[in-house]
Amino acid sequence: MTERPTAERHVPVLAERIVELLAPALQGEGAVYVDGTLGMGGHTEAILAACPHATAVGIDRDTEALTLAGERLAPFGDRFVPVHAVYDEIPQALAERGIAQANAILFDLGVSSLQLDEAERGFAYRMDAPLDMRMDQQTGLTAADVINTYELAELESILRDFGEERFARKIARALVAERDKEPFTRSARLVELLHRVVPAASQRSGGHPAKRTFQALRIEVNAELSVWRDALPAALSLLPVGGRIAVLSYHSLEDRITKRGLAAGATSSAPPELPFELPEHQPWLTLLTRGAEMADEAEIATNPRAASVRLRAAERTRDTTNMRESAR
Ligand SMILES: C[S@@+](CC[C@H](N)C(=O)[O-])C[C@H]1O[C@@H](n2cnc3c(N)ncnc32)[C@H](O)[C@@H]1O
Repeated sequence: MTERPTAERHVPVLAERIVELLAPALQGEGAVYVDGTLGMGGHTEAILAACPHATAVGIDRDTEALTLAGERLAPFGDRFVPVHAVYDEIPQALAERGIAQANAILFDLGVSSLQLDEAERGFAYRMDAPLDMRMDQQTGLTAADVINTYELAELESILRDFGEERFARKIARALVAERDKEPFTRSARLVELLHRVVPAASQRSGGHPAKRTFQALRIEVNAELSVWRDALPAALSLLPVGGRIAVLSYHSLEDRITKRGLAAGATSSAPPELPFELPEHQPWLTLLTRGAEMADEAEIATNPRAASVRLRAAERTRDTTNMRESAR
C-alpha cells in the first residue's frame, strides 16, 4: 500500500460537473447528500466543500475505503457519516439513522483506484495476487471460487456478457481443462493462460488479453449488475421533489440500466390507447443530461479512468409516494 495521502492518490472523475449538477439540491438547511459509492471520498469532499448546509452519508461495501475516506473527510466533522453497506440497502441504512429522504444522490460505479492499486486484492492483472476481487472482503465468493466451481456454460456467458470477450468459449474451455488439473488460486496463472488462449492478432489490436476476463470476473464476484438494477429504483424513491441523482457508469451494461431506469421516470406512462394523460401517468423525473456526458480529452489525459465514463443525471419533479401506496 502506498503512503501518500488519500486526496493525492485519487482524483474523482467529472468532479466539477457532479458538483454543478447536485449542489442546487443541497443548499437548504439540513440537506442530505448520499454518496452510494464513497470510495476514497473525492466526490463527497467536493460536495461538502460546496454545500455548507449539507450532511453526507457515505456508503461503501469496502471497509478499507471507509477508513481512508474517513481520514480524508475528518475536517468536516459530523457532517460526514460513513456507512458500511451494499448500495441496494441505502433506504434501510438511512431509515436506521432516522433519515427519510436524500436531497442528492451520487453513484460512481465500479472499482476504485484504491482497489486496483492494491495488488493483494486481485483486481489488477498486471500484478500476481490471490484471485479474490471481492469489494467486501468479509463476504461472498472469490474470483477463484467462480473459476473453479462454475459450469462451463456459465463461465462462457459471464466472459461474453460482462467482459464482452470475443473468445469467451475458448477461454471458458481452457479454464475448465486447467482447473481439472489443479484449482486456480493466483492471478498469474490465469494471466498466463489468457496470453496462451487469446489469439496473438487480437492481443495486438484489443489491448491486454486479461483485461476483459478480469472485468467479467469482477462484475460476477460482486454481482455488480444485479445489485445496480435493484439499487437505482430504491435510490430514486428517496428523492423529494427537487432532489437530484447523478450516475457515473464505466461499462455499457451498467449504463444501459441507468439509462432505462431514468428514462422510465422521465417518460409518460399513459397507455397509447388513452386519448389523454392522467396525472399519475405524467413523468416524475426530468433528465439533466442530454444523452450521456463524457469526460473531455484534458481530463482523460490526466485520469485514464475517465476515458470510459458515461454520466447521466436527473431531478425528481413529482411526488409519487401516494401512487405507490395506493398501488399496494
Ligand atoms: C469508483 S469508486 C468511487 C470513488 C469515489 N467517487 C471517490 O471520489 O473516491 C467505487 C466505490 O464503490 C464501491 N462499491 C462498488 N459497488 C458497491 C456496492 N454495490 N455497494 C456499495 N459500495 C460499492 C467500491 O467498493 C468502491 O470503493
